[in-house]
Amino acid sequence: MSGETKLGLSNKNEIASVGIIGLGYVGLPTAIGFLDAGFNVWGVDVSERVVEIINRGENPTGDPEINDIIPKPGTKNWNITTDTREAVENCEILLVTVPTPVTPDLKPDLKYVISAGENIFKCISSNSGKIVVLESTVYPGVTAQSWLPLIEKYGLKEGVDVHIAYCPERFNPGDEANGVRKVARVIGSLNKEVGEKLVSIYSKLTVGRVDYVGKIEVAEAAKVIENVQRDINIALVNELARIFPALNIDIEDVLNAAATKWNFHGYTPGVGVGGHCIPVDPYYMIQRAEQVGIPAELISAARAVNRTMPLHVFSVLKEILYTNEVPANNSNVLLLGWSYKAEVRDHRETPAEHLALALNESNVNISVWDPHLENDVYPEYVNVIDDINAAEGFDLVVLVTGHSACIDIDWGNLFTRMRKPLIYDGRRVLDIKKLDEIGWKTYAIGKP
Ligand SMILES: NC(=O)c1ccc[n+]([C@@H]2O[C@H](COP(=O)([O-])OP(=O)(O)OC[C@H]3O[C@@H](n4cnc5c(N)ncnc54)[C@H](O)[C@@H]3O)[C@@H](O)[C@H]2O)c1
Repeated sequence: MSGETKLGLSNKNEIASVGIIGLGYVGLPTAIGFLDAGFNVWGVDVSERVVEIINRGENPTGDPEINDIIPKPGTKNWNITTDTREAVENCEILLVTVPTPVTPDLKPDLKYVISAGENIFKCISSNSGKIVVLESTVYPGVTAQSWLPLIEKYGLKEGVDVHIAYCPERFNPGDEANGVRKVARVIGSLNKEVGEKLVSIYSKLTVGRVDYVGKIEVAEAAKVIENVQRDINIALVNELARIFPALNIDIEDVLNAAATKWNFHGYTPGVGVGGHCIPVDPYYMIQRAEQVGIPAELISAARAVNRTMPLHVFSVLKEILYTNEVPANNSNVLLLGWSYKAEVRDHRETPAEHLALALNESNVNISVWDPHLENDVYPEYVNVIDDINAAEGFDLVVLVTGHSACIDIDWGNLFTRMRKPLIYDGRRVLDIKKLDEIGWKTYAIGKP
């Protein structure tokens, strides 16, 4: 096969130029990683705003980890553009890191994967040997189903004129230890030689292991099930956090007791899951299973539990207000944290928004303090608190995101400024005993 297959560069020559299509949370750090690894980088984004910001040497994403490493204007081998053609013409390898959201009816939305493919394949000429790699999270089959028809449309032949492959991004934004230059990678390709070529390229990007795993669908499935597994594990602990209080048992006591066994996996209950991956990716797997007539019952049930956690917490909060004689329509509730997980600036799919929406529909006055976010990210019905030390007049404080800044606020001080000193720990991260001593009336997720 190697004699027949033309790849962009032979093994003797170093592949020097990599194009990254889509410069968001995943694509931008990937582009910077390849630049650091000595590659000539062509980064493309359809958004003129994104390109303009990066070309100023600034960070258009919400990931503060990369604030200080955006290349300065004029950096050698750093080319950022809105024109996919420039990247295709200059690069042997093109990596596609575009969004893969779901539609409002929770079906995979592949329009970005298809439009990025269209922009690339229409610029590729016959016998180019270029390799186009999808990195976005998808269900098994998407790369071939989305791109082979486009390759054909532009008169090209896969394996002859162009090669396709899949290498999922697995890094964790905001998590230095699992960054783009450290995380292990898996590569799927129709062609072993292409797979091995990509192993050698990605091995320059990351110090983690890089494996060619065979079929594209294997690599696609490996990525999506990582997030499915996480969703299921979190759903289990969230479901238990609903059941145990009704049995007059504190879930934290149960989890601590269970954790003494060697093979128990610890998860903490919470207001819900958020971000671009866990609340989204399982729907890709559900859809694919549906297509082949096999119901993904466990995956769907886990989704239902996690999706409804904000509403569960809302009903508990309403009960707390009621039992403490605070009418919902004359209550002031302070949410601590808005981003979807601790210490990140990412608020996409945050469960805080679903919780706030439900509270707002009950005419609760909602204020939010999140020191990681700018004031313009909130819905208009939310009152944004700038200075937590001056905040006052609340009936209930709800810890929504476990930012250390939220955990470490001056609880004694805030206590003196409450109208009613009620607190609900939605992440089980607060020192309940200490709060009780100050005089707070404490409630927590999974606690009777
Ligand atoms: N964010 C994460 O933590 C994470 C981690 C691993 C994998 N992923 C997956 O990576 C993919 C990208 O996610 P993200 O968080 O970086 O998305 P993002 O929304 O932050 O960035 C995507 C970028 O692609 C651009 N874009 C859209 N269509 C384009 C096109 N045709 N050509 C060029 N640019 C285009 C958008 O303007 C945007 O800037 C998704 O499939 C996601 O599931 C995300």
